[in-house]
Amino acid sequence: MQTKTDPQNFRDIAVKAAKAAGKVLRKFFATELRIDFKGEVNLVTEADRAAEAVIVQTIRKRFPGHRFLAEEGGEHATPESIGSDHKWIVDPLDGTTNFAHSFPMFCVSIGLEIRGQVVLGVVYDPLREEVFLAEKGKGATLNGRRIHVSKTEKLNAGLLVTGFAYDVRQDLMNNLDHFSNFSLRVQGVRRTGTAALDLCYVACGRFDGFWEMKLSPWDTAAGFLIAAEAGATVTDFGNHPYQIYLKEILATNGKIHREMIEVLESAKGPRG
Ligand code: IPD
Ligand code: CA
Ligand code: CA
Repeated sequence: MQTKTDPQNFRDIAVKAAKAAGKVLRKFFATELRIDFKGEVNLVTEADRAAEAVIVQTIRKRFPGHRFLAEEGGEHATPESIGSDHKWIVDPLDGTTNFAHSFPMFCVSIGLEIRGQVVLGVVYDPLREEVFLAEKGKGATLNGRRIHVSKTEKLNAGLLVTGFAYDVRQDLMNNLDHFSNFSLRVQGVRRTGTAALDLCYVACGRFDGFWEMKLSPWDTAAGFLIAAEAGATVTDFGNHPYQIYLKEILATNGKIHREMIEVLESAKGPRG
């Protein structure tokens, strides 16, 4: 008999919520959007807000006592959810700048943390209809098929991906030093504009490594678990195990991890 707290229930509702949000995003995509500014280059659109509302509604209907940590609305706290040890960590639209420019690269990211541990992650790319999913200890899948990290042995042969925080113009620790150092060491460095998909692409071997600074838990909660469950090594820049509240993330196929740490450590000046 299935109970409400059966992991399958969490998984099913996360996928349902991600797909519902994806449908909202598809509807808004490449239309005239209302855009507000959270900072000079940090945008939020009506699509971000509408997608988040659908996710919270879908999950809350099934699990009214659970908490949220969502990019746009924060905790969405209700009297019932206060103190819950189940926390849904939601980025309703990862890749907002792409989305606002009608650049077709963005996703929905939903993670579930129970008593401080991320146990479930779903990342949905609504344009390519790709669902990346992982449950702790059970591996990772793309549209139901098992995925694994790449087998690239050497950094020299690698394709990497990174991103830049919205304070890139204000803070000298803006990742441009690492970007140029890696660019001289690998086959290519990409900047897709969606950290959650970057992690999923490491998970399925499309990229060999990903690093970024100053991400938030909603950017990485789901993607980090998906990458780890697909065999990735995920740490901070000092090679300590990654946690979603840390400000540095390095996710690789494992084989090029040490080389990537060396390049990160070679950068002059303070680290972010
Ligand atoms: C951003 C994307 C981007 C990363 C930024 C994030 P948003 O999230 O993940 O790839 O470089 O640091 O803030 O704002 O599009 O949800
Ligand atoms: Ca994000
Ligand atoms: Ca977002």
